[in-house]
Amino acid sequence: MSAAFDPRTHLPAAGELAGRVIAITGASDGIGRAVALACARYQATVILIGRNERKLEAVHAEIGASGAPEASIAVLDLERALAADYDRVADAVLERYGRLDGLLHNAALLGTLSPIEHYDVPTWCRVLHVNVTAAFALTQVLLPALKKSADASVLFTASTVGRHGRAYWGAYAVSKFALEGLSQVLSAELEGISRVRVNTLNPGRARTAMRRQAYPAEAIETLPLPAALTGPYIALLGPASRGVSGGSFDAQPPPLAG
Ligand SMILES: NC(=O)c1ccc[n+]([C@@H]2O[C@H](COP(=O)([O-])OP(=O)(O)OC[C@H]3O[C@@H](n4cnc5c(N)ncnc54)[C@H](OP(=O)(O)O)[C@@H]3O)[C@@H](O)[C@H]2O)c1
Repeated sequence: MSAAFDPRTHLPAAGELAGRVIAITGASDGIGRAVALACARYQATVILIGRNERKLEAVHAEIGASGAPEASIAVLDLERALAADYDRVADAVLERYGRLDGLLHNAALLGTLSPIEHYDVPTWCRVLHVNVTAAFALTQVLLPALKKSADASVLFTASTVGRHGRAYWGAYAVSKFALEGLSQVLSAELEGISRVRVNTLNPGRARTAMRRQAYPAEAIETLPLPAALTGPYIALLGPASRGVSGGSFDAQPPPLAG
């Protein structure tokens, strides 16, 4: 891994993602939606993955209206999907595109904020399933397509609370720690035997539904819009990060203490 690489300093060139096929989970809203639109703006062909077909169609239409390469939609509810649903997505990707150049695991559930002592066990299972197990399963079925790329990037979405433990963040924090582990293990396994690189990116605080759920009393309008945070995603999903693997990156500088 290149320690010097900082995706925050990268200025994407027009057409930087041209010719690349990039799949994004949770592309219906928030950061995933913004990154999907940005990838399309830099000329990637985007596969929009999510559970809400109507919302995905709206993103698809926005990409179509912009004149970017035509996107496609894969409806996949990561809480309920079974093996056959994952296989259907992987088969469709190979059949339509013959390869996959980027995979952003962005979809996530917050769960509840409560002490471990009182954490609701079914909520714990749902959060770990959507945030970790589904990302593992989707990566596994898409690896054959990723290995067909000349230069593929798998990117897991991290969080500040998944790098340093913080009270009451429960299953969400634990799931984000798990993604750091999954990313490092997969990166080590693929190094030298494939051209697939694997990293994590922490978007930092952003003005989304999840952030509002976590901090209902916060003045959310003071936080950056997701569209302002897409540059580091382009850097890590595109050719700028070729050869960079096993890293944990941030899209924003750390917030000032106090
Ligand atoms: N916002 C922040 O301040 C912040 C900070 C650090 C990390 N993050 C991370 O950034 C990522 C995006 O978060 P966000 O803030 O953009 O949240 P968001 O606006 O709530 O978006 C979450 C996305 O995940 C999708 N999703 C949830 N459950 C799903 C399921 N079962 N199957 C398929 N898709 C599902 C949602 O789909 P629907 O549209 O159908 O609900 C939505 O597209 C997450 O990984 C989050 O942990 C966010």
